[in-house]
Amino acid sequence: GEASYILAIETSCDETSAAVVQDGKTILSNVVSSQVEVHRRFGGVVPEIASRKHVEIITLMIEQAIAESGIPMNRLSAVAVTQGPGLVGALLVGVVAAKALAMALRIPLIGTHHIAGHIYANQLVHDIVYPCMALVASGGHTELVLLESEGKFRVVGQTRDDAVGEAYDKVARSLHLPYPGGPHIDKLAAEAEEAVPLPRAWLEADSFDFSFSGLKSAVLAVINQANMKGEELNQAALARGFQESVVEVLTEKAVRALRVYEAKQLLLCGGVAANRGLRAALAERCGHEGIELLVPPLSLCTDNAAMIGAAAHLKWARGEFTELDMKAEPSFSL
Ligand code: KG4
Ligand code: ZN
Repeated sequence: GEASYILAIETSCDETSAAVVQDGKTILSNVVSSQVEVHRRFGGVVPEIASRKHVEIITLMIEQAIAESGIPMNRLSAVAVTQGPGLVGALLVGVVAAKALAMALRIPLIGTHHIAGHIYANQLVHDIVYPCMALVASGGHTELVLLESEGKFRVVGQTRDDAVGEAYDKVARSLHLPYPGGPHIDKLAAEAEEAVPLPRAWLEADSFDFSFSGLKSAVLAVINQANMKGEELNQAALARGFQESVVEVLTEKAVRALRVYEAKQLLLCGGVAANRGLRAALAERCGHEGIELLVPPLSLCTDNAAMIGAAAHLKWARGEFTELDMKAEPSFSL
């Protein structure tokens, strides 16, 4: 068929991003403006501030993405945008911009699911073979998603409380580490000589769901006990104990889900895919089990618009477009 040039926009959380993606595979441009510095002093994303920052910079991001792509505006095939899930005020900025562009350029609008984007980030660098299993691990999500065929998603497991990145950030915060805390815990864990033993939340024997709040409480209990006794806390050992618990549960459940659903590839995605402990454990287990592990480069694991363009291409190819009166969906389901 004819080539597609999809202009994609992502504003679901604290990154403002625009990209042009050709045929769901080739990134022609992918500009990302992160607000992480703005939110750091609050120790987390402040929704109202996020919306305002998106408004300030969205037009520039879109202009840059188009200019860098080398594709003239009148050759764009469609405008894709993250419709949800995410912060409603943040999503709205992208949605309104996408609608205005689709209307002005008279091209289709494609509302896209944020997690579909994280998963299809893999398609920008690898060939996906179905059925496959995606482990989505980010600040907002922890899900095992079975892809029976292209674009056919089935959530087979998800967190019952905190997302894994959220647990990392909360633990980091209680150790007075800067936001976002994931990378700091990861670094401490790598330096540790020992690990504080902490529980693993396996849940029911056949469940692919996750739970991280008990682990987080166990970490807090260790910190409180050290404080009470006036003992010095071995931060590195605690970070390593926490990380070992998280990594073991994620790895075991992912590998078991692959076996049960007879998937051959494991697609790792979301910001927590940056975690060195997780990558190493998954690489080793997948090697043993004959599973092909796909991990996009880090710049495509964290929130970006190119992944939205990749996911939107599936809908474009089927002519599945979105009405212009579409609404942002803060709790959109896959
Ligand atoms: O996908 P992402 O950029 O944004 C969301 O959609 O949430 O993920 C951000 C999350 C944060 O919670 C951050 O602490 C975590 O990913 N993260 C890490 C690491 N790098 C980022 N968690 C553990 N280890 C890391 N190296
Ligand atoms: Zn995300």
